[in-house]
Amino acid sequence: MKKAFITGITGQDGSYLAEFLLDKGYKVYGLTRRTSTQNFERIKHIIHNENLELVSGDLIDQHSLTHALKEVQPDEVYNLAAQSFVKASWEQPVLTGEFTALGVVRVLEAVRLACPNARFYQASSSEMFGKVQAVPQTETTPFYPRSPYGVAKVYGHWITVNYRESFDMFAVSGILFNHESPRRGLEFVTRKIANAVARIKLGKQTHVELGTLDAKRDWGYAKDYVEAMWLMLQQDEPEDFVISTGETHSVQEFLEIACRAAGLEGDWKQYHKHNPKYDRPAEVDLLIGDPSKAKEKLGWEPTISFEELVEKMVQSELELEAKSEL
Ligand code: NAP
Ligand code: GDD
Repeated sequence: MKKAFITGITGQDGSYLAEFLLDKGYKVYGLTRRTSTQNFERIKHIIHNENLELVSGDLIDQHSLTHALKEVQPDEVYNLAAQSFVKASWEQPVLTGEFTALGVVRVLEAVRLACPNARFYQASSSEMFGKVQAVPQTETTPFYPRSPYGVAKVYGHWITVNYRESFDMFAVSGILFNHESPRRGLEFVTRKIANAVARIKLGKQTHVELGTLDAKRDWGYAKDYVEAMWLMLQQDEPEDFVISTGETHSVQEFLEIACRAAGLEGDWKQYHKHNPKYDRPAEVDLLIGDPSKAKEKLGWEPTISFEELVEKMVQSELELEAKSEL
């Protein structure tokens, strides 16, 4: 039985990846940090699976990582844990650097010392392209990060490449563009909009307050993207890949489609207000990835369209909000 170790298992991607690997017959170990109340909402449906085991540790604590990997001796390590919210990275730049940048080298060191033959996946990000130097972005497009989060991810990316080249480790970096789902954190714009339009439909609120509507993102479905992570670790050679849909859409388009999907009447504009609180000190205006390499070498392709993604998220929020008394 193959063993996989996932940091960030309680997050959006970690929960989908754990499900995916359990279905493939893996024994899955997930790193979780100690909290005063349990934070297992996204994995509650698999928590009693006999092939899932939670291990205590934190990206900031080298010993906990080395100890965990020594005990588990995994075949594959997926480093998904991070301070992943871009806006928060200006408010907590040092912590973001600790988790999202130095956390990566701590996991790599733990792999190197405890299980050097394990295959390692790093969750890199299209946010590294920031002020884009080419359109569309590929594996060779230079990085120009625009947030402390983006800067931290660039470190995580290059340290992964460096460990591959220095220590001959099977270490790869997936440059994933935005991917969403009903399990997305509520602070991210897609889930925030999907939730708001559902609440408006049910008479619980009147409008949604947002920052810029002009930013464009290449939005895919998280469930598709975790399969790409696994595929990268099944290749003969360790290589980095862009994972994206190849389409870009604005925040405004997301909002317009979401209003329609929720069955809101009239013009979407009546349900929206700009609030400068949600603007960022520096914005990433346009992301669009070229997934050709992933298609050719991994045989990977997205399975659902942008409209279907928006509809799926709105439908999920309508169901959740109908049950909630808040
Ligand atoms: P997410 O939902 O925010 O999940 C982040 C996970 O990291 C959570 O399980 C969190 O644990 C854990 N974590 C945070 N700090 C930690 C620490 N110090 N020690 C141990 N665990 C820690 O993020 P996601 O959307 O699933 O994204 C997964 C990864 O892909 C992240 O690295 C993100 O930066 C990257 N990424 C995401 C996207 C995207 O569009 N989703 C695109 C490109 C790259 P708690 O539950 O305890 O907070
Ligand atoms: N969160 C949020 N809230 N974003 C808003 C809002 C708002 O009220 N109003 C407008 N936006 C805009 C942001 O300024 C940004 O341009 C865009 O919506 C998307 O913001 P987020 O959903 O917060 O995602 P992100 O693109 O900054 O970062 C996500 O994708 C990265 C990959 O490119 C995160 O998942 C990162 O972890 C990931 O690396």
